[in-house]
Amino acid sequence: MRQLIAGNWKMNGRLADGAALVGKLQQAVSGLECDVLICPPATLLHTLAAQLAGSAVQVGGQDCHTKVSGAHTGDISAAMLRDAGAAWVILGHSERRTDHGESDAMVQAKTRAAVAAGLSPIVCVGETEAERVAGAQDAVVGGQLIGSLPQDFAQGYAGVVAYEPVWAIGTGRTPSEADVAQMHAHIRKTLVSHLGEAGRGVRILYGGSVKPSNAAALLALPDVGGALVGGAALVADDFAAIAHASHAVAAAARAG
Ligand code: 13P
Repeated sequence: MRQLIAGNWKMNGRLADGAALVGKLQQAVSGLECDVLICPPATLLHTLAAQLAGSAVQVGGQDCHTKVSGAHTGDISAAMLRDAGAAWVILGHSERRTDHGESDAMVQAKTRAAVAAGLSPIVCVGETEAERVAGAQDAVVGGQLIGSLPQDFAQGYAGVVAYEPVWAIGTGRTPSEADVAQMHAHIRKTLVSHLGEAGRGVRILYGGSVKPSNAAALLALPDVGGALVGGAALVADDFAAIAHASHAVAAAARAG
């Protein structure tokens, strides 16, 4: 399965540095055997999507509202993201769940809205450190998945899932390779029991302190379908290096 290397810029980037980053990236990742996506702040979406038109780098938003339009000051709908040039949207990121109290039910409504607008969602799940210490990570992540993904997506789900342990985000810490492999297998099993056959084809990204130095090992693990990258996505050379690591994994798989 072709991997997806997605960059979540979070609340970073202004016009000048965003355009410069994208300019470098465009050349550095052309022709790679993986999908490459950047999710800049909404203020830059339209400009960067225009700059990237015709290139291999796709563009996505970082959140959307559940409704198409209306009296919701400060919010942005999935249709508006699409109109600005986005093809993807990150939903249910742990920072949204924490900062804005987003529940699984809300993430599910947003996921529905995104698909209805023609966007591919990246639905994020992941346990806190306390939950992992308590051994509750499988139950927490399984519950988030079932709560966040509409079951009628059994007809087909165009999006992906991102496993981002909250304690690995921005900390420089990652789970062991065995723990990532175990969780991705658990997510696959949960997707198949929730969505049937459609759950087999859903890419499962890993996110949380992915860097050029650990990308090759993480991306080579079974059922890792790509990476959702935060800090390292703000440095063109680092993000490109992660995409190149994915390309190398694809080439090695092809060679058998
Ligand atoms: P870092 O790569 O900075 O740990 O962030 C991960 C993340 O939250 C991506 O959505």
